[in-house]
Amino acid sequence: MAFNEEQFKEIMAEFTIDTERLQGIAASFRQDLQLGLRDVSLSSMRMLKSYVGLPSGNEKGEYLALDFGGTNVRVSKIRLDGGGKYEILKRVGRPLIVPGEYDYICKDATAEQMFGFIAELIDEAIDGDHDTKYYLGHTFSFPSTQDNIYNARLIIWTKEFATQGVEGKVANDLLVEALKRRGAENVVPVAVLNDTVAVLLSAAYKTPDTFIGSIYATGHNTCYLEPSIHDANCFGSGGMILNLECGNFMKLMPNRFDREYDEGSEKPGEQRFEKMVSGRYMGELLGMAIAELLGEKGKRYALTSVDMSMMILDDTENLQRATDILMAKVGRELELDDVKKVIKLASAIVVRSARLAAASFVAIVWQRAGHGKIVRQHVAVDGSVYEKMPLAKENIVKAMAELLGDDAAQVDTILDNGGSGLGAAIAAAMVKAD
Ligand code: BGC
Repeated sequence: MAFNEEQFKEIMAEFTIDTERLQGIAASFRQDLQLGLRDVSLSSMRMLKSYVGLPSGNEKGEYLALDFGGTNVRVSKIRLDGGGKYEILKRVGRPLIVPGEYDYICKDATAEQMFGFIAELIDEAIDGDHDTKYYLGHTFSFPSTQDNIYNARLIIWTKEFATQGVEGKVANDLLVEALKRRGAENVVPVAVLNDTVAVLLSAAYKTPDTFIGSIYATGHNTCYLEPSIHDANCFGSGGMILNLECGNFMKLMPNRFDREYDEGSEKPGEQRFEKMVSGRYMGELLGMAIAELLGEKGKRYALTSVDMSMMILDDTENLQRATDILMAKVGRELELDDVKKVIKLASAIVVRSARLAAASFVAIVWQRAGHGKIVRQHVAVDGSVYEKMPLAKENIVKAMAELLGDDAAQVDTILDNGGSGLGAAIAAAMVKAD
């Protein structure tokens, strides 16, 4: 069965955002940001305080960094040498879920099991040494409220995590308890931060003029340095970094696929922007569109963003790779013309995602500039979608140019690979140096 041409065009249009609409989205994002600065309850974003500003770049010492925010948990031992230099001395990592073996992120898993697993990994990173004192920076990449650098309390799980007994709790307390159960009390968590904040710290440590940090991966979120916020409990300089939790930005128009996906998701009504932008959801949206084209509306295929990337990059004769992926995931051998259409759709979903991310970056650049000039600056981004997804980076650049016009030359995006780990070590150093 060949796809219906009209239906295909209509779906493509659903996933297309022209410059005018994008301008509207950027303006609405900025307005939401301004509302939130005035009174956070007026914004759809959570705009969470991080209790850190920028590092000096001269932070030094050896720290542990725990990076917990996606399905892979990583622990690194990092030596900061100051002058923007550092060395990763050791790095271990393990997934929180191995299908058929274990799953620490499902509804049946408990906080004890999850943090026990993480403590075990930390123990591996320190080779079971229970004597030396290690200060640990913890990148905990879920919306959390805190009133100091240590006590981030999980508001709500995102990215389809569902482990019991963590929402409402202080993540570091759960970690400390788990470390205690392992006899590793010599590991002392001293700072907790969102991954976007970690990326900003990491990039700013190495590259001056970086004020915005973002994650574009399984999840999506952005933070920036807000110069007007000062607090006695805040480490670093230049004001305070605000974790926008812009995955929750809601003042935009989701299409019917976005709405339908949201209704059936772990947390309906939450993280609407993230569900349109991040890697966790792109494959799901594509799958829903394919189901409709195949007359199987409502059916879910397990398409992932990695599948999308492989299909978009398919350079085999007759798109054999994409055909095979679709055969495996959709359970049908599609005609060549339909495979081409699926690739167009996949591309449109990626381009939309990149344009939305770009609109949010530009909104923050505008906000920081106020009535003044847009200064030369970098937006630091980390994450698999930014790094590896075809079309993502180039469409961010393109969309930023559309929105910023002549000022586009002032702003670029830079990849800060592995910033989540390095930023955690820097935060720990900022605390210990104080
Ligand atoms: C979380 C954010 C996080 C982002 C990227 C989102 O789901 O709410 O806290 O920064 O994912 O990991």
